[in-house]
Amino acid sequence: MKKGRVFSGARPTGRQHIGNYLGAIQNYVALQDDYECVYCVVDLHALTTLTHTEELKSNTLEMVLDWLAAGMDPEKSIIFVQSQVPQVTELHTILSMVTPMGWLTRLPTFKERVRMQPDNVNYGLLGYPVLMAADITLYKADTVPVGEDQAPHLEFTREIVRRFNHHFGPTLVEPRIKLTAFPRVMGLDGVNKMSKSLGNHIELASPPEEMEQRVMTMVTDPQRRYRSDPGRPEVCNVFTFHGFFSPEQVQEIERDCRKAEIGCVDCKRTLARNLSARLAPFRERRAELGSDPKLVWDILADGASRATAIAEGTMAEVKARVGLP
Ligand code: TRP
Repeated sequence: MKKGRVFSGARPTGRQHIGNYLGAIQNYVALQDDYECVYCVVDLHALTTLTHTEELKSNTLEMVLDWLAAGMDPEKSIIFVQSQVPQVTELHTILSMVTPMGWLTRLPTFKERVRMQPDNVNYGLLGYPVLMAADITLYKADTVPVGEDQAPHLEFTREIVRRFNHHFGPTLVEPRIKLTAFPRVMGLDGVNKMSKSLGNHIELASPPEEMEQRVMTMVTDPQRRYRSDPGRPEVCNVFTFHGFFSPEQVQEIERDCRKAEIGCVDCKRTLARNLSARLAPFRERRAELGSDPKLVWDILADGASRATAIAEGTMAEVKARVGLP
């Protein structure tokens, strides 16, 4: 017996990095055994922030390749592209009628976007959380695994659901947030969150040589200037990574770093080796899947048709409740 239904979405950002993996993908994979999972590439949401959309398709493919290679499994879960189940736009419109404008303009995520893209403050951007509420409620998900940054959107979704159900009778499911337990994964610079736009990331799919090159640029304890200076693992991002990828060696590394018995260069080489080894099966599966992109699009089409079956049921109920013929 499954514990409930999970829905989560991610914008198609192309090849995924280690931060995406530790923060989201790993969790998506784990949830598949306990929940009925619906995982969505939210390409319509991506349109709210993009002015150039020519890479949308390839970014979708690259991201889904990473998802599948990492163990998100179309046999266990529904994996699909948002725009291929257009009922979501219909529900978005209906939900927009019970959404007070003030709730949208007040959201911190909207205000931040306005600051970030003052020349492209479009109507869709304002409605972003309504579309997200439509995503979640269309599939009657009760559990939404997301990072803390999405908490205001989840709270918004819950409020919309309560409002809709209050107006029209109990129809939609109020979802709960399932905060991802992982700490923020810092980038190679050690100070900013790992992100593609900052270029401080390591792609999951990068070949071992490239991975090593990137790891060697990682910032370590800034107070350790000479090889003979003792290091402080607690402030070192490389050490944090060892925690994830070198579980057997992490104690020894900590001891040797504190006693200056290991230098940062060797420490990073060890990390690069472990990281590469850990991702070897991933790279293999990805290369195999990547050789036949048609297969990936077929998986997504199958996901869309399974998602459509759920969506049609919800829309029939919603329309009846609202009084649409
Ligand atoms: N807003 C989410 C983000 O930027 C993506 C998203 C869209 C989403 N719809 C969703 C996440 C539904 C969870 C559930 O990360």
